[in-house]
Amino acid sequence: MGYPKRSEVAILLGFLQLILLEPVVGRFVVEKNSLKVTSPDSIKGNYDSAIGNFGIPQYGGSMAGTVVYPKDNRKGCKSFDDFGISFKAKAGALPNFVLIDRGDCFFALKVWNAQNAGAAAVLVADNIDEALITMDSPEEDGSSAKYIVNITIPSALISKSFGEKLKTAISGGNMVNVNLDWREAVPHPDDRVEYELWTNSNDECGVKCDMLMEFVKDFKGAAQILEQGGYTQFTPHYITWYCPHAFTISKQCKSQCINHGRYCAPDPEQDFSTGYEGKDVVHENLRQLCVFKVSNESKKPWVWWDYVTDFQIRCPMKEKKYNKECADVVIKSLGIDLRKVEKCMGDPETDSDNPVLKEEQAAQIGKGSRGDVTILPTLVVNNRQYRGKLEKGAVLKALCAGFEETTEPSVCLSGEVETNECLNNNAGCWKDDKANITACKDTFRGRVCECPVVNGVRFHGDGYSFCVATGPGRCKVSNGGCWHENRNGITFSACLDNEEGKCTCPPGFKGDGVKSCEDIDECKEKKACQCPECSCKNTWGSYECTCNEDLLYIRDHDTCISKRSSEVKSAWTAVWVILIGLGMAGGGSYLVYKYRWRSYMDSEIRAIMSQYMPLDSQNEVPDHIHEDRA
Ligand SMILES: *[C@@H]1O[C@H](CO)[C@@H](O)[C@H](O)[C@H]1NC(C)=O
Ligand SMILES: *[C@@H]1O[C@H](CO)[C@@H](O)[C@H](O)[C@H]1NC(C)=O
Ligand SMILES: *[C@@H]1O[C@H](CO)[C@@H](O)[C@H](O)[C@H]1NC(C)=O
Repeated sequence: MGYPKRSEVAILLGFLQLILLEPVVGRFVVEKNSLKVTSPDSIKGNYDSAIGNFGIPQYGGSMAGTVVYPKDNRKGCKSFDDFGISFKAKAGALPNFVLIDRGDCFFALKVWNAQNAGAAAVLVADNIDEALITMDSPEEDGSSAKYIVNITIPSALISKSFGEKLKTAISGGNMVNVNLDWREAVPHPDDRVEYELWTNSNDECGVKCDMLMEFVKDFKGAAQILEQGGYTQFTPHYITWYCPHAFTISKQCKSQCINHGRYCAPDPEQDFSTGYEGKDVVHENLRQLCVFKVSNESKKPWVWWDYVTDFQIRCPMKEKKYNKECADVVIKSLGIDLRKVEKCMGDPETDSDNPVLKEEQAAQIGKGSRGDVTILPTLVVNNRQYRGKLEKGAVLKALCAGFEETTEPSVCLSGEVETNECLNNNAGCWKDDKANITACKDTFRGRVCECPVVNGVRFHGDGYSFCVATGPGRCKVSNGGCWHENRNGITFSACLDNEEGKCTCPPGFKGDGVKSCEDIDECKEKKACQCPECSCKNTWGSYECTCNEDLLYIRDHDTCISKRSSEVKSAWTAVWVILIGLGMAGGGSYLVYKYRWRSYMDSEIRAIMSQYMPLDSQNEVPDHIHEDRA
């Protein structure tokens, strides 16, 4: 059978849901750092300690302190405030490392309580004789998740016997000084750091997923600079499990696995009946691996960071966009060869191995100093598992500690980084070439696609496929994205400042207002100048109308009238008759006045009137040509 036989990864499917939360499975190498007792002489020497999986270890640094063993609350499960205990160091004194006993509550809570009381670091003394284990954060429950992110002090587990030694020395009235040294925590053999991130495309697994996504977004800029400079070689990895052969056709395996049970991931909602299934996650993980492979082949491995962050933003599960269609749009926007990605992914329904995922499963097994990867996310630096907070500053420190001294890139020294991704094909963001406006912004976190503000005009949109100018003045910037054209000194525009986000062709034109507005041929379409005496000539945006020799064209009324004075005179007589008539009607309201005005005046009279005095009903008259030419 083509199934893996390694017992280390053979985990029953029912177990799968727990795996993201439960630490310590299989052979697990604890990352030790050196703890050196400098006084008293009786216990001077180096001891092992295991770095906690939270807080911020001082990678590449060291820290000296005095060990304090509290009189009360020795397990640190309660607030030290309740006992009136403070670990704040007095001015000039060494910082306090608090010794706490293991048991009764989460490691993280002990460290949190000590940090709140002013501790600089925490040493947790084991309560059984055993090999050191890694202190991981407790499985997410709302309350602990909140404080874990705020733990900043380093912590380490020490063996029971070493704990006893420290306690004896302290109770004997000795001042116990120790040095925590992280300089050896990351091997630094050469001028290139190899590191791996074991990650997951699932974005709905609660605190761990949120933290991972936040980290990837934050760290992207630095990662890309390091990679482009050749300082690092980064490889992303994804954990999968296989379904034991006997269960291949079970409902669970069918919903969580691809390639007939070979590669599985836990159901995102841990509910087989709703939402996304485990196999959707495996499939996206595979796509991300292939995106890396394809971009690595074209010597741009850092594009993986753009893809995963864009995918998170553009294709989240909660918007039901976690799918192939959305992924393909992102892949294309980044200029990655979609066909190569698809070829690499192969057919998820087939009953055979997928070479890419097979390699991933093999890589899960520990090699050399690394140990099996069982916790997600896991960062591996120079083949050692990184322990500590997944946070930009802390990880950068750990990576930088991996360079041989003096070979570290300037990023390591300044901490400030700025990328120049926007220069390269606009990095997949929206852009208006004509107006030279882009949604791409280089920041120290890498590029972001955000609709810009140009000359005080705000653009709104997703930043990737569209941005539209909004608010007052929007027509001044790139004409609000609307059509406009100039011919022979005349400009027509489909943008109106007060029409939020809309483009409307001006009168005399038809079209979508964005790409084009086409001139309406008023003559052909019989929109104007249709009287028997009229002769019509279309112009761009309007028309010209002339009447037979002795007739005058009245545009407002789209009619020809006689130029002869007698008719004009008679027309004026008619006006006076009406005015007198109105005066006699006396006291008529404005509305009545207006009504009569309209109903009594025949069109010819109104046409003449309009040449001598403004009419109050001019808004009825098509007058676009004046406005547009203004
Ligand atoms: C953690 O820190 C943040 C920001 O400093 C703060 O708003 C929040 O209340 C803190 N959480 C706890 C549990 O102290
Ligand atoms: C990425 O490319 C480099 C050389 O270009 C190669 O050494 C490395 O193994 C590749 N990584 C993967 C995961 O294919
Ligand atoms: C576009 O704008 C950028 C910055 O605003 C400027 O550096 C660049 O020269 C402009 N390009 C063109 C073609 O106007």
